[in-house]
Amino acid sequence: NWTMVNIADESIEAVREQVGGKRAICALSGGVDSAVAAALVQRAIGDQLTCVFVDHGLLRKGEAEQVEKDFVAVTGVNLHVVDAQDRFLAALDGVTDPEDKRKIIGREFIRVFEEAAREIAGEQAAEPVEFLVQGTLYPDVVESGGGTGAANIKSHHNVGGLPEDLRFALVEPLRTLFKDEVRALGEQIGLPPEIVWRQPFPGPGLGIRIIGAVTRERLDILREADAIAREELTRAGLDRDIWQFPVVLLADVRSVGVQGDGRTYGHPIVLRPVTSEDAMTADWARLPYELLQRISTRITNEVREVNRVALDITSKPPGTIEWE
Ligand code: XMP
Repeated sequence: NWTMVNIADESIEAVREQVGGKRAICALSGGVDSAVAAALVQRAIGDQLTCVFVDHGLLRKGEAEQVEKDFVAVTGVNLHVVDAQDRFLAALDGVTDPEDKRKIIGREFIRVFEEAAREIAGEQAAEPVEFLVQGTLYPDVVESGGGTGAANIKSHHNVGGLPEDLRFALVEPLRTLFKDEVRALGEQIGLPPEIVWRQPFPGPGLGIRIIGAVTRERLDILREADAIAREELTRAGLDRDIWQFPVVLLADVRSVGVQGDGRTYGHPIVLRPVTSEDAMTADWARLPYELLQRISTRITNEVREVNRVALDITSKPPGTIEWE
């Protein structure tokens, strides 16, 4: 695709011009935007870039490995991994309010990132870190300027809000692009399809897909159920037709069920597959019954704590995509 070749070459050139011989850091979330931005900047300035990956323990199955192994293998990027799982769990202990969860996760993320940035800036002190790479897309630019978006309904987090002495100049190579262009660009520069075609995933991760307090056990339950849903969606060849497929654990709800000869008293899982153009509005996805049946059977068979699977058939509005 010639257009994408041009866009890639041009943005790599622009980054080189902006950053020169200076150093830059970048936060990798596991998402496509930060991955494509980081890969482009890596192409432009090589080892002058260090990426930080904060493993907050709220990612889905296999996602941390995807960043730590696959992404590094393909791009050769310098990666600084922080295992902050215990820290996030401790900070979230007993918290049930969705906005409180978001604020806590956002705050801890900034703190951990800040510590990592200081550490990285301290190494090779000859050349200070002056730039922060962000995977801002065109719709993000419009949304923060316009002020009417999902951002006003739920507080989103990014690495804004860093302290005075850690204010970096921003490098935003995707600022003029839409999501589909970012994906095409990602393919063009050779990122693996699992990263390029990943569905959008919220920064606070599984933390806002557990209705109730977040615990390690609940995260494990949800991670298993989510992995099954994703696996079956992909196997059915429908993952690129679905905008997002949140899987939600109603952790404070129990219902009675029966398995074998025994009574069960387990948690419901809610499937929330949606179609959308831009996440501002969405419709519930009409997944084939056979697929829904496979997901339901597998989740109730394979995830012991779950004895019921429900399907969310609400559009946005009035529902939102996520449950929190
Ligand atoms: P809602 O649930 O408001 O979500 O319909 C719209 C889009 O935003 C994502 N989302 C978030 N992304 N931090 C993020 O980075 C957040 O706190 C957050 N909350 C929702 C959601 O997954 C959907 O794509």
